[in-house]
Amino acid sequence: MLGNFTYCNPTKLYFGEDALENLHGELKKYGQKVVLVYGGGSIKKNGIYDQVTKILAEEGKDVAEIAGVMSNPTIHKLREGLDIARKHGAEFILAVGGGSVIDYSKALSVSVNCDEDPWDKYYIRFEEPTCETLPVGAVLTMVGTGSEMNAGSVITYPEKKLKIGHVFADEKIMPRFSILNPRFTMTLPKYQMVSGIYDIFNHICEQYFSGDDDNTSDYLAEGLMRNVVAASRKALIDPQDYEARSNIMWDATWALNTLISRGKTTDWMVHMLGQSAGACTNATHGMTLAAVSPPYYRFIMKDGLPKFVRFAENVWDIDPSGKTDEQVAEAGLDAMKSWMEELGLVMNLRDLGADESMLDDLVNGTILLDGGYHVPTKDEVRRLFQEAM
Ligand code: NZQ
Ligand code: ZN
Repeated sequence: MLGNFTYCNPTKLYFGEDALENLHGELKKYGQKVVLVYGGGSIKKNGIYDQVTKILAEEGKDVAEIAGVMSNPTIHKLREGLDIARKHGAEFILAVGGGSVIDYSKALSVSVNCDEDPWDKYYIRFEEPTCETLPVGAVLTMVGTGSEMNAGSVITYPEKKLKIGHVFADEKIMPRFSILNPRFTMTLPKYQMVSGIYDIFNHICEQYFSGDDDNTSDYLAEGLMRNVVAASRKALIDPQDYEARSNIMWDATWALNTLISRGKTTDWMVHMLGQSAGACTNATHGMTLAAVSPPYYRFIMKDGLPKFVRFAENVWDIDPSGKTDEQVAEAGLDAMKSWMEELGLVMNLRDLGADESMLDDLVNGTILLDGGYHVPTKDEVRRLFQEAM
């Protein structure tokens, strides 16, 4: 491992079918004034809302609600929530939902005591908070983003066609605790389940396809990828398979809780392309990644050939005998694409609502990063979007 690094992850996790019981003990550590943040209503249908509010009442909390946090949460919804949190004098934020609800809660945490405009401060200038932040706790209901154990927060400004993620450097922005009960994810529609599964897989790819030193992180990444593929196949056959769903939940957390990026560079260009597609179409996050991934990985394959060969052999069990390195690498990418099709992912941007008239916005909204095997130009980004259509 060639990089210098620091590793600190303070999020306490409670995992398993009885995990919610631990909310009692956690709530005792924080103030009386709680803001409960949730999405568009799934937690009311599946009973999680009733279980959580019962515990809040038993702990004597004074609760204000921010309901209706949408997928790809917007800056406008954040401003609306800031009014509620400020009027309530919030001391603690409890996020109950998926990545959108948890990301939103982190954005609320860093903005509630801040006079500056959160969009400009955090999503354009990428500053760290200069005000007091509020602690966030999470009850996770949708698996994929890893937001339950990281400091990432992605917010969309629809009118500007921008969707931007800020990974805060300060680990106190990570949830103080997260409650992970795999049963809570079993009411997810298949579309969301598979989208989350691909999000997990791609988070690992983003950190794997970079660098050329022998690195512990890459071996961890391969193990996680193998389990995501194996468990996803079981969950496809039986979405109620607890073993499969619990493995997927745990894989998601480790895929993006900062561990497997230690000591190496990372790529993240698929996410930059996908986020721009999300800003233009409001499509589901994992599906935007699926649509741009095959053209992107074909495009960078030659620049990172040894890693793509290793990916083919160690993740997809491709037999290299009688093949050139390029053929092995291509067979690995073919195997990945077949698995994506097996999951039923949306594999092109047109089916997500994009068309050629959006190309300028798609290109303008893509942030170019330089950690991967090839730093794309804006022209190359345009070609990648055209291929992904
Ligand atoms: O809003 P409700 O009604 O709750 O429905 C949600 C939503 O429609 C539904 N859902 C969640 N749990 C459910 C459920 N439906 C039935 N049963 C349940 N148990 O699922 C839908 C999707 O939820 P959402 O939170 O939007 O999905 P996800 O977890 O994929 O989060 C997506 C957001 O996270 C960002 C994405 O860009 C996107 O904005 N990301 C955050 C990251 C981070 N913090 O590190 C990294 C990721 O790469 C990603 O960018
Ligand atoms: Zn993602």
